Amino acid sequence: MTNDCRFTETHAQADMTDLAWPSDPAEIPDWIYTDQRIYDLEQERIFRGKTWNYVALECELPNPGDYIRSYIGATPIIVARDPQGEVHAFENRCAHRGAEFCKTYRGNTKQFICPYHQWTYDLSGALVSVPFRRGVKGVGGMPADFKLDEHSLRRLNVATRHGVVFASFRDDMESFEDYLGPEMLDQFDTVFDGRKLKLLGVHRNVMPGNWKLYQENLKDPYHATLLHTYLTTFGLFVAGNKTMILTDSKGRHSTLCNARPQGRPENDQAKTEIRSFHAAMQLADPRVIQLIPEKDSPWTSNAITIWPNLILLRQTNILGARHIVPMGPNQFMLIWTTFGFADDDAAMEQHRLRQNNIFGPGGFIGIDDNEAIKFVQDGVMRSVPRHGLAPLGKDVEGPEVVITDRAIRSMYRHYREEMGL
Ligand code: FES
Ligand SMILES: [Fe+2]
Repeated sequence: MTNDCRFTETHAQADMTDLAWPSDPAEIPDWIYTDQRIYDLEQERIFRGKTWNYVALECELPNPGDYIRSYIGATPIIVARDPQGEVHAFENRCAHRGAEFCKTYRGNTKQFICPYHQWTYDLSGALVSVPFRRGVKGVGGMPADFKLDEHSLRRLNVATRHGVVFASFRDDMESFEDYLGPEMLDQFDTVFDGRKLKLLGVHRNVMPGNWKLYQENLKDPYHATLLHTYLTTFGLFVAGNKTMILTDSKGRHSTLCNARPQGRPENDQAKTEIRSFHAAMQLADPRVIQLIPEKDSPWTSNAITIWPNLILLRQTNILGARHIVPMGPNQFMLIWTTFGFADDDAAMEQHRLRQNNIFGPGGFIGIDDNEAIKFVQDGVMRSVPRHGLAPLGKDVEGPEVVITDRAIRSMYRHYREEMGL
């Protein structure tokens, strides 16, 4: 399906001549995290630009008539399944006066009725009826040449792969597979291997930080063993592990892969670099980190960042999609969707849910990241502006080098191109 409205032009006219990117590629300016003009331009050039944005899992919409509220960037949308089983995405904005007509997170319906004047749309976003179209007793009403099919909701392009739904405002998109590139597609298919998915739960939280900091965080293996003492203490991720960080050819997506060591490391010399290591700590329930082999992969975890709005996490047996929703320069929402496979037995499902206690939004690792992101945002908002640094490693080094900021730098090279900065 083609869009009902294309976004191909630049509308932002804001003067940004006071913003100059530093000449050293290892430096990242503070203003990309705080400036409203930058945020507005990101909505236009990135989220409404040539990107495939994650919007839902198909298992959230198993039946005809199922829908969820979702977002592309900050723009509210609806994802819905029609009676023929096709998945559609369209703006949650009435074509009449602009009301955000759907306020329910998820549900099942035959049609969407805007509460303001009851314009009614079907599950593909087509306008199907308008009250008092011919007025009352032949007086008033819509002009005679008013055509329903010229006033549908703004519909988006949709691509699905292995049960994951992406949408784009643009008509002229490459295929989702080309957008990911072969290396990332391979990583994506490690998590989504074609088996039917089962939704286990959704959490939402609002984070006091710029949305890009979350992309950076998952492209930053440097912090993993230093901030997340849980990972090192219980042997999930230790500096010196077999690890790899891959990026696509444009540098916009990446995957951090890690092969967990056997058992708990007792003599890892890297621990001497980690001041907060707690050798004596024990888990009350070791099952929260138990790995039940289920994937044909040498890696026990994949953290995949798909530009611009998705983090996919496979960590031991938990599978999660984290959907980044910008809410202004200094704030974003994260929608955490936890899933398993439809053919999981009850014990496996319980196991995945148990691991959500560690790897979900209330788990130690997510909380560490949330707090670190808040610290960065506080720092860049409150201090005298200067540039942040991402200087570790070299751009030409291979994927096995992980004490590196290579993936952060490559993301910002792509970002600058898209933004014209
Ligand atoms: S604003 Fe939706 S029907 Fe009027
Ligand atoms: Fe982290």
